[in-house]
Amino acid sequence: MKKFVERALKKFEKLDTEQVRMLIRDLADEQDLVAAVLDSLNDGLMVSDNEHLLVLYNKACERLVPLEVKEGADQPIWETIADDQIARFIEQTLIGQESVADREFTFDRGTATRTLAFTVTPLVRDGVITGSIVHVADVSEKRSREARLRRAESLASLTTLAAGVAHEIKNPLGSIGIHMQLIQKSIAAFTDERAGTIREYVDVVNEEVERLNRIVVDFLFAVRPMDTTLEDMHLNPIVKELLDFVRFELQEAGISIVEELADDLPQLRLDEKYLKQAVLNIVKNAMSAMPDGGVLTVTTGKSGEEVSLRISDTGQGMSEEVMEKIFDPYYTTKDFGSGIGLTLVYKIVKEHMGDISVASQEGRGSAFTIMLPIPQREQHLLSWQGSGNEV
Ligand SMILES: Nc1ncnc2c1ncn2[C@@H]1O[C@H](COP(=O)(O)OP(=O)(O)OP(=O)(O)O)[C@@H](O)[C@H]1O
Ligand SMILES: [Mg+2]
Repeated sequence: MKKFVERALKKFEKLDTEQVRMLIRDLADEQDLVAAVLDSLNDGLMVSDNEHLLVLYNKACERLVPLEVKEGADQPIWETIADDQIARFIEQTLIGQESVADREFTFDRGTATRTLAFTVTPLVRDGVITGSIVHVADVSEKRSREARLRRAESLASLTTLAAGVAHEIKNPLGSIGIHMQLIQKSIAAFTDERAGTIREYVDVVNEEVERLNRIVVDFLFAVRPMDTTLEDMHLNPIVKELLDFVRFELQEAGISIVEELADDLPQLRLDEKYLKQAVLNIVKNAMSAMPDGGVLTVTTGKSGEEVSLRISDTGQGMSEEVMEKIFDPYYTTKDFGSGIGLTLVYKIVKEHMGDISVASQEGRGSAFTIMLPIPQREQHLLSWQGSGNEV
């Protein structure tokens, strides 16, 4: 307790009204200052008492964490959190009286994926534990920066490696192919029945050579620099055309499509062919994540200086471990997957100077959000139109 309050309390009876008023004003000022400091913090703070009841939280906490605080009700801190995963974590930590540092949770907030780090520490007053402090930091930017760096590095080393390996494989393959043709020619005149068997064998080898060639070509395609040509285009028609292309296949798989395409989106700089390829890869993944049918929701919208394209499914979702690796080249959890689909998506989005993020919950589904920049010229036009309408 503050020294001056302690002193004042000791001789409280002797204080006159004016002194009591001053005392209260000083205390109120101090409380205001503490509240202002708490509310000015970028990080969220929640404080609970010994019975885990929420006694205090700041503005940043309201902004970061989905809260459901009932005015005047005594609620355990976890009951005020509207996210099951986080609430369960806080409950277990507080009841188990543990201290936890930087436990991360990722969740989808509208158009962006957010990663929050929670730290729980005991609240110590005069050497005695009187409750807990939950500290919440938004580490989304840090995490996505790290992930971007990791991907850029692995793409760069892959490109060098791949180009070398692919060439090394293509040359001997070419030679094998030519020699198989020579063998075919040499045995063309044979009439004996053993020649028939040899022909069959040769056909098998030829097919396999062809298959390997295709793999190498795909491989090269995946890693070579892309020849994108960006043009002024609207996003929605491209998305619509792609959805029309897959509509039948999705229908057959028991998947319904929900389209939430915002009108009045500005034009963007897009490469139609590549962008369709990217959306198709995401949609195909969504399809395989919903083997028993489900809902595919495609949403476009404007968010600040970017346009967002969100594709979400109600499929099996992914664990955090899987989610961290899905953009890595050749990462797949499928028996017959090549693990190239999302690597290409990532490259295509980068060619568009955009960004891609993913949010997913096991058993619930996944959502991929692509953010594409609105060109400067379009931005001027928008703000000009905006001010025009206001006048
Ligand atoms: N919508 C989704 N739901 C659940 N898991 C997904 C989803 N999209 C991607 N994944 C996971 O990410 C992995 C990588 O996807 P990616 O598209 O790169 O490769 P793939 O689909 O396995 O193979 P392919 O190269 O044939 O596309 C998948 O194997 C899967 O585990
Ligand atoms: Mg795929």
